[in-house]
Amino acid sequence: MAHGGKSADRLAVVTGASGGIGGATARLLAKRGFHVLAGVRRREDADALRNDRIEPVMLDITDETAIAALADRIRDDPERRSLRALVNNAGMAVNAPMETYPLSDWRRLFEVNLFGHVAMTQALLPALIEGRGTIVNISSVGGKAAMATYGPYAATKFAMEAISDSLRREVAAHGVRVVVIEPGAVTTEMLGQVAARGEKIVAAMTPTQRTRYSALMQAVVAQAEASAAGGATPDEAARTILEAITAARPRTRYTVGRGVGLVVKLTRLLSDRALDRLLAANLKPHWPKASPA
Ligand SMILES: NC(=O)c1ccc[n+]([C@@H]2O[C@H](COP(=O)([O-])OP(=O)(O)OC[C@H]3O[C@@H](n4cnc5c(N)ncnc54)[C@H](OP(=O)(O)O)[C@@H]3O)[C@@H](O)[C@H]2O)c1
Repeated sequence: MAHGGKSADRLAVVTGASGGIGGATARLLAKRGFHVLAGVRRREDADALRNDRIEPVMLDITDETAIAALADRIRDDPERRSLRALVNNAGMAVNAPMETYPLSDWRRLFEVNLFGHVAMTQALLPALIEGRGTIVNISSVGGKAAMATYGPYAATKFAMEAISDSLRREVAAHGVRVVVIEPGAVTTEMLGQVAARGEKIVAAMTPTQRTRYSALMQAVVAQAEASAAGGATPDEAARTILEAITAARPRTRYTVGRGVGLVVKLTRLLSDRALDRLLAANLKPHWPKASPA
């Protein structure tokens, strides 16, 4: 039997369920019989998601009061179901050269992409231990390789990888599994907004920074947009997350997307310099004409 008992007895929490990977995951888990507590931040997203098995909850993962209310909701579940899965999915993306990204924005990014998940995990661990549940942490290929301009985002994802390893080793003895998901490009709003986010970052640069980095930003944005063409769908990511939750013996990590497993392997096998050359070669076709690449 799959981990954690019959599906009708199961609660699952998915953060960042307004769309993208989180939305697809909430819907798939509901289809498979979980009662899904789906975290959203807007009423209209709640209304779009709600059905017999999806119960939207207003949840900003940086809001401790909202997290505490969710923990109470789970503890006092009217049908006494146990919490079998927590999918820490919510996230923000950014591409910005280290020098140009304001420190307050670094802090905000870490609040959402790291500390929000820590807060969720701390609040729900007692219920997960009781329910012998699975924590699924959505990292990224950026949790294994930090390409130029991905420093802030990759820093949060490398940290997510580290806390997942540590937590897995802490809670295995208490019946809780911790699984990391490492998607490459997935065709969601996050990838769709890459150009608009990039323009804002460039607009906020000093003239000197712009001479240093605007061609790099153009190349990175073009590369990210091109990656969307071969990207995985949110449904593919959701299927991998379902597998992580329901497998009798899940792997500690799953990649999502074509070729992503190979990239992750290369980050282990290649020297830093060799990886620098490989990443630069991949970026090269995307540089604007007459640029210094
Ligand atoms: N798309 C990719 O190519 C890709 C690749 C690797 C990893 N990932 C990871 O996959 C996860 C999901 O991303 P996605 O691609 O599905 O992006 P998405 O469509 O932009 O979804 C991000 C979700 O996070 C929510 N969110 C943002 N800040 C939040 C906060 N403070 N509290 C609660 N929710 C918040 C958003 O809610 P609102 O709608 O309210 O803003 C949205 O529901 C992220 O962790 C991302 O880093 C994505």
